Amino acid sequence: MFSILKSFLFNLDPETAHDLAIKSLKYNPFPSKMFEVEDEQMLNIELLGKIFPNPIGLAAGFDKSAEAYNSLLKLGFGFVEVGTVTPLMQFGNPKPRIFRLEDDQALINRLGFNNDGIETIKARIKSNRKKGILGVNIGPNKETKDQKNDFCLGLKNFFDIADYITVNISSPNTEGLRDFHDQKRLVDLIVTLNKIKKDKGTDIPLFLKISPDINDSYISEIAEAAIKNNISAIILTNTTNGNRDNLKSEFKKEKGGLSGDPLHQISTNMIKKFYKELNSKIPIIGVGGVNSGKSAYEKIIAGASLLQLYTAFVYRGPSAAKDIKKELIQILKAEGIKSIKDVIGKDV
Ligand SMILES: Cc1cc2nc3c(=O)[nH]c(=O)nc-3n(C[C@H](O)[C@H](O)[C@H](O)COP(=O)(O)O)c2cc1C
Repeated sequence: MFSILKSFLFNLDPETAHDLAIKSLKYNPFPSKMFEVEDEQMLNIELLGKIFPNPIGLAAGFDKSAEAYNSLLKLGFGFVEVGTVTPLMQFGNPKPRIFRLEDDQALINRLGFNNDGIETIKARIKSNRKKGILGVNIGPNKETKDQKNDFCLGLKNFFDIADYITVNISSPNTEGLRDFHDQKRLVDLIVTLNKIKKDKGTDIPLFLKISPDINDSYISEIAEAAIKNNISAIILTNTTNGNRDNLKSEFKKEKGGLSGDPLHQISTNMIKKFYKELNSKIPIIGVGGVNSGKSAYEKIIAGASLLQLYTAFVYRGPSAAKDIKKELIQILKAEGIKSIKDVIGKDV
């Protein structure tokens, strides 16, 4: 069925197709039972005091303004991350700003944090009780004079309505944002956020989302800063603004972040490196080119406890999570493994 829908959607420009998908998803009439799979309990993961029904999450950027997260949870995702949310609503960069690289099973985007802003999004989440695990990804406005303060506003507004907050320092489309990978700036940011948590008396987990484009020398410094300052999980990775040489599609030279298949190995390698540095003290959420049971399994044995995807949702459609869960269970059974938790980091 998706093949007919796909040929229709792929005839539209990518952003129009995305907006249409969000609008229709709001009215998703299908019961969640339809997207559960046999033996799904093999995929249960207990983390941070919560039970994730399965490790396949929807990555930030699809439901930027929290319009459809409950419908997305119903499609069989183990958790959904909305955002990136900035303090003020913003339109983002001029269109066109999303490109489909079909021959590469990839996307390039330079959206620039288009979203409805904290006030609207907070009200939306409050009026639509979440029916599963919901993360809120926060970031700064393009025109802000103080990026750190924008992160503080994000935390102050969402700590009591989300299951976790992702501190997104890794979008390639907001100038200066990736400078927070510098250890001094990173520690200063996390210490400030931890003070807010203390003031508010909250224990909301903070996740940190990292760029795949950092130099290896940053890895140990980021891991050290995260361990010392009580970060609850590291998300690896955001999109890359390099790695264009081996692409086939006509849009390969477009400016922006590359996601999907060409990112898979890059982010998996980074997961392995972080897994060694983190020494099981902080769990990893693997993201980048997860589009099959095989690619999901590769990230788990590289050290990821949970996964997220975006681009595969575009190419595989509404049954992406269900199909990947099924394929993953098949792999586990073939390997004689009873539970996904038994293989996290097995390859490192
Ligand atoms: C169109 C698009 C928009 C995105 N917007 C965001 C965003 O707002 N915040 C963020 O942290 N990541 C954003 N991402 C990155 C994804 O969350 C994810 O890290 C990346 O796409 C790699 O996963 P994938 O290969 O499964 O797509 C976006 C990705 C795409 C393709």
